[in-house]
Order: sequence, then C-alpha cells, then structure tokens
Amino acid sequence: MNKHEAPIALASLHTSTRHDSGPKHVAGTAEYIDDMIEPAGTAHAYLALSTRAHAEIVSIDYAAVKAAPGVIGILTAEDIPGENDVSPSHKHDEPVFATDKVHFWGQPLFAVVAETRDQARRAAHLAKVEYRELQHHTDVRAAQAAGGKLVTEPLKLERGDIEAGLAAAPHRLKGSIAIGGQDHFYLEGHIAMAVPGEDEDVTVFSSTQHPSEVQLMVAQVLAIRHHAVTVNVRRMGGGFGGKETQGNLFAAVAALAAKKWNRACKIRPDRDDDMTATGKRHDFVVDYDVGYDDSGKIHAVDAVYGARAGFSSDLSGPVTDRALFHADNAYWYPAVRVRSEPLYTNTVSNTAFRGFGGPQGMMAAERWIEDIAYGLGKDPLEIRKANFYGLDTNNVTPYHQTVEDNIIHRIVDELEASADYQARRAAILSYNQGSPILKKGIALTPVKFGISFTATWYNQAGALVHIYKDGSIHLSHGGTEMGQGLYIKVAQVLADAFGVGLDVVKIMATTTGKVPNTSATAASSGSDLNGMAAYDAARQIKERLTAHAAKLHQVAEAEVQWVQGGIQAGATFVPFAELAASAYLNRVQLSAAGFYQTPKIHWDRATGRGHPFYYFAYGASVSEVTIDTLTGEYTVDRVDILHDVGKSLNPAIDIGQVEGGFIQGMGWLTTEELVWDDKGQLRTKAPSTYKIPLASDVPPVFNVKLAEWSVNAEPTIGRSKAVGEPPLMLAMSVVEALSMAVASVADYRIAPRLDTPVTPERVLMGVQRMKGARG
Ligand code: MTE
Ligand code: HPA
Ligand code: MOS
Repeated sequence: MNKHEAPIALASLHTSTRHDSGPKHVAGTAEYIDDMIEPAGTAHAYLALSTRAHAEIVSIDYAAVKAAPGVIGILTAEDIPGENDVSPSHKHDEPVFATDKVHFWGQPLFAVVAETRDQARRAAHLAKVEYRELQHHTDVRAAQAAGGKLVTEPLKLERGDIEAGLAAAPHRLKGSIAIGGQDHFYLEGHIAMAVPGEDEDVTVFSSTQHPSEVQLMVAQVLAIRHHAVTVNVRRMGGGFGGKETQGNLFAAVAALAAKKWNRACKIRPDRDDDMTATGKRHDFVVDYDVGYDDSGKIHAVDAVYGARAGFSSDLSGPVTDRALFHADNAYWYPAVRVRSEPLYTNTVSNTAFRGFGGPQGMMAAERWIEDIAYGLGKDPLEIRKANFYGLDTNNVTPYHQTVEDNIIHRIVDELEASADYQARRAAILSYNQGSPILKKGIALTPVKFGISFTATWYNQAGALVHIYKDGSIHLSHGGTEMGQGLYIKVAQVLADAFGVGLDVVKIMATTTGKVPNTSATAASSGSDLNGMAAYDAARQIKERLTAHAAKLHQVAEAEVQWVQGGIQAGATFVPFAELAASAYLNRVQLSAAGFYQTPKIHWDRATGRGHPFYYFAYGASVSEVTIDTLTGEYTVDRVDILHDVGKSLNPAIDIGQVEGGFIQGMGWLTTEELVWDDKGQLRTKAPSTYKIPLASDVPPVFNVKLAEWSVNAEPTIGRSKAVGEPPLMLAMSVVEALSMAVASVADYRIAPRLDTPVTPERVLMGVQRMKGARG
C-alpha cells in the first residue's frame, strides 16, 4: 500500500470540524477533575505558604493545625519517603516542602490533610512559624545589582564581527526595554487527585500538560518505580504553559497523602494561592546596543536578556534560550551577539507561558526597529521591511540555521493591502494634526516563530490505536487537551486515514498507561507530533488489512483501494466494520502503536549552532488604537491579522487559536501587570487587581484570516503548521500602535520607548515625556 495514498473524498481532514468537547463546554457537562465523583473516604489537602521572601525557618509549631476540626494529619519534608524535590530541570533545586529556608513569599512549608477541603484550608493558616529574615531581591535590576546570580547556565549566540559591525555603523543606539510577566489565569486552576492502589501503586488525576513528568515526580517523591504510577488527564481548563511543570507539586502532595493514609486525596488551591505559589511568564529587561545606517538597515546587534527566573531553575534555561532564538523575529542581523541571564530572584519560579520566552525576545527586536524609525523619521514598517530575512541571501539566523521557508514578505504585502495600511496611516497622520486631545496610532508587525522543542529529544510522540470487532476505534496518544483542539485534530487524522466518520473514533483520555514516555504537550507541537504518531499507527493497521482483504477476495494488494466507508477489493466493496470483523476471524491484529520523531533537527547549545527548528510559522497583524492624552486611557479600534498555519487541519480551530492567542497577547502587553511589594509579596493575585482581557475587550473590528495559500514545505501531517503559540506575538502591533499615538505628541521625532505592559498609566507618562521634550 502506498504510504501517501490519494486523499479520500469525504475526508474530515482540513475541514472546520467543531471541537469534540464544544457542546459539553457550553452545557457544563465536560468533566474536569473537580467534577469527578470522589472515591469514598477522599481526604483533602491544602498547602501552607511562607510569608517571607527569604528567611531561615527557626521553628514551626503545628499544635493548632493538628488540633483543628477535621484534620487527619500534616505532611512535611520528613514524610517524604523519596526525594523532597519536584524540579523539572533535574537540578534538584525545587523542594516540595521548604526545610531550613524559604526562598520566596508563597513557598510551600507543609500540607494539611483533612476530611474536607474547607477544614484543610482553614487549618493551614494556624501554624506558628518563626523566621529569621534574610536579604532578598525580587526583580531583574535588583538581582543584577546584587551580583547577578543565575539559576542555570546562560546561552550565548554569536554570528559575524560584532565589534567591527557596531564601530562601522553610521548610527548607534543604546537602550533598554522592560517587558512584564504574565499570570496564566487558566479558568481551571491547579488540581490533582490521587487514588492509592495495591502494593506501591497509585493513580493520579492531574491537570497537567505533561503526564509523564508528573509520573516521574510522583515516583521520585514516593521512591517507587515509574511503572507503579499511572497519570490520567482527560482535559485541562487551560494550561498555556503553566501546566507544563507547575502541576508537579500538587500531584506529588496528593500522592504522598494517598499513600500515607491509604485514602484518595484531592488538592486544589484557591485562586490567590495558585497565583502566589505557581510560576508565571518571565519578565525581562533587555539592554541593547544597535548599529544601523541611513536607510534603517541594521548592521549589528549586541544585547543582554535579563530575566526574572525566581528561586529555582524550572524551565528558565530553555525559556531564556528561546528568547535568544527569537531575538531576530523576522529580521536579518549581519553581526549579532545575544546573551541570556536567567537571574535568581526571591520570587516564585517562573515557567513556560505561550511562546516560551520567544515573545519577550521578539518584543525587544520590535523595540529597536521602532527606535530606528523614530531616529530616522520614517514609518516603522519601512524599517521592518528593510531588515526582513532575504529569500536566498541574508538568511542565516544568530544560531546559524538558514531560514529556508521564508514567506514573511508575501504575508506582510498581502496584509498591508487587505488592511489598507498606507491609506489608513495617512488618514491617521492628518487626524492627529487636527486633534489636540485624542491621538491615533497604527502599526503592522510581523511574526516568525520556530517550531520544535529546542530540547531535541522532546520531539517524539507515540499513539495507540485499537479497532474493535464492530469496527469502532479507540484513539490514544501522548498529547493532552487544554482547549486547543488537539484531540479533534488527531481524531480527524485517524478518521481520514481509515475513511470513517468521526463518530467511529472514540477519543480516549491521555494516560501514561497507554502511551509511555511522552513529551509535554507544548512548543505548539501537539498536532505535529501526535498527529503523525496516530497516522503511523493507522498505516500499520491498514497495511495488515490491505493484505488481509487481498487474500480474502483473491486480488492483488494493488487492487485494494481505501475509499470512504471501507475498502474496494477488486469489484467488491467491503464496509469498514465488516472488514474489521473478518480480520478478527482471520486472526489479523487490529491494534498498533504508532511513533514519530521529527526529522532534520539538531542543536548544540555549547557552540550556539545547529538546526533547532523543523520549520517556521509566520504571521502579521495591523492594529489601530486611539489614546486620550489627558488620561492615558485608550481603545484598540481595529485589528487585521493574516496568519500562516500551512494547510490547516481544521480552520475553525485554528482561527480560534489565532483569535485567542492575539487577545491573550494583548492582555500581556497592555493590562496584565504583576506587582510585588517591597516585602516580596505578590499583590496582584486576583482578578480584582490583575486585569485580563474581557470579551468586551475584543476589538470592534477584528479581521482574522489564515494564509490559505500556505503549505508547509516540510512533510508534516497534512502539510499543516503548528498554531498554538505564534499568534500570541501578533499582539505586538498593539504596543507599536500605542507608541505611534504617544509619539504623535512630539511630532514623531522621539521614540516613546514604552515598557510593557503598556497600561494607561504608562501611556499617560509617555505623553507627559513627549510634552516635556516638545517644550
Ligand atoms: N489554547 C487553549 N484554548 N488553551 C491552552 O491552554 N495553550 C497554548 C496553545 N493554545 C493553550 C492553547 C500553548 S502554551 C501551547 S504550547 C499549545 O496550545 C499546546 O497545544 P498544541 O501543541 O496542541 O498546539
Ligand atoms: N517549548 C515549550 N516547552 C518546552 C520547550 C520549548 O521549547 N523545551 C522544553 N519545554
Ligand atoms: Mo506552551 S508555553 O509551549 O505550553
């Protein structure tokens, strides 16, 4: 059988099939862990958190905790049979429970286990903790001033002669940009429920993007082997990177309690504790030195990327690496040197968040583009175009990978035309001249995002497909569903491969018991990896069924055709269910494990060279805003997006990802502000003080289109491209449009250099600076 047989006429691939859980989400019948029926005798755990940013623990008096109503017992480091550690970087720097010291405000000290969640939660506050305070620093500049201790080795990328490039450039600019962090604000917070089994066994239901890592962590704290731990996850109510590693702690605590008391145990923190005790997007301060010429062409870039890593390594190494991998965005630098600084701070350990450092790297790139444009008195779009990677030349990245699939020129040209950018910009320039209070801005920004985990071994996936005697299908794979539509896409792949309806394919919850050693569902790679693994499983079964049908109907294998609903064996049509039944009777195996590993990629971190990305995803957006120069308030009036997903597996899902990614990015860059006080306590830990976008913040004009002509140059599943993270960075055009509106106050002669999030306060301060400069 041909591995790449002709597409089936009624294929569900590349169609706008609705999310498999859509109706259940709307009806409230989609089951999350907190909805599950609890086993009889389920206990409830709650964490007690430190109230110092950096201190020695002198003593803890648990008497009142233990005496509180309903309390079954407490869990401390001493109750851990294995290692007191849940560090995903395996640097053993992230204790489940603090022992002698606390390193941030909100660090878990111990857990209370009680009959009800409310009892556990109340008792957790009753311990008397005596601290001896130590010096603390909570942000990038303070950490740098204190000597710049790093949580993990920095990365350096270098290409070309940076000193000569800077020295010879006709213009030179130095600056910094502070880029804020972001809380994930998943609708469903962290949660885990553990059910003890026989012997060492434990089953854990965890809201995690990374079941295999939760399995490892639970095994590590319990000092048991991986085969004794089963981790299940049907769906998450959002993950956004926050559940790549941050669920480890909760799963470990639930499992410890389950085994200690031989009762099921559930743990779910309140929203404010979730926000205090779990990591967020890294905020960065990027210091740059850029050389350029009169045409706005960049000659050299030298930059340092300081990031607030928090108290432990977590994923700060790979996150700051990805920031450097996106220091170029879509631009070619003739000479470049970029260096990461994942700084130790006395704050919660920052982690993965949609884009994984890439957005911060790209925001800095857009900042020096803007600086150059205002320095030269030109439209920033002109500077962007002048620096785009070339198609055949000027196409080597700072990490020495050649960009071979560059479509940014076509994306930007098409969007510039369809959004009527030039005419609208001209109209805005004249509007601003006649409008003393309200000012408008417009900006077009590009996105180029590298697809693949930079941890090369993560780029593998498995699937397990069973066909039952009645022709119905079970589909399992290693990917997790967090709302992004991975499950439906992989089901489409399988239905398409077998030529059956989607109703024939049952989507199974993800479990370590079916597919082992899985990667996190992250780096936007879910459908690329698991789609291919499922396809591989289908291919194996189809080969067996083709041979079986040929034998049964006495035709050559070449005369067996897979058609919608079954196979055509010579003149005979055999419906899929009949085929399955006859295969069973003839002892043909109807189950297969599929596997996929991404080809071509390699990466050597020590030398900063390689081919870390299989391909790139592209996109561009135009945003128009209006600011009030008296208050700093603003509105985002219109957004146009053209985004590249290759040949879409499911346009409806993909457009949803683009819309959601943009709005989430807009929240990050405009209203979501994290504030720690001078004691190191996070003060923005609830929706009252931390403002995520509302449905009403969606721009009144929001034109989102997929680049329908795009086909992945690499043979990915259905020639599609990853979509999960790249659209978040489309929101940079909002920042750039706000910048233009602010710059208008001083006739566009001064770069406003707004830090992000560009809150109304920052807009107002920017306007004041412009007024001051104008005199
Ligand atoms: N979309 C929804 N609705 N919920 C999420 O949690 N996470 C994002 C993105 N889109 C997320 C989402 C992140 S951070 C990633 S890496 C990808 O989805 C992961 O899924 P994928 O690889 O299947 O695209
Ligand atoms: N992206 C997302 N998650 C990851 C990565 C990455 O590149 N590497 C390790 N975890
Ligand atoms: Mo996404 S930040 O790679 O989970």
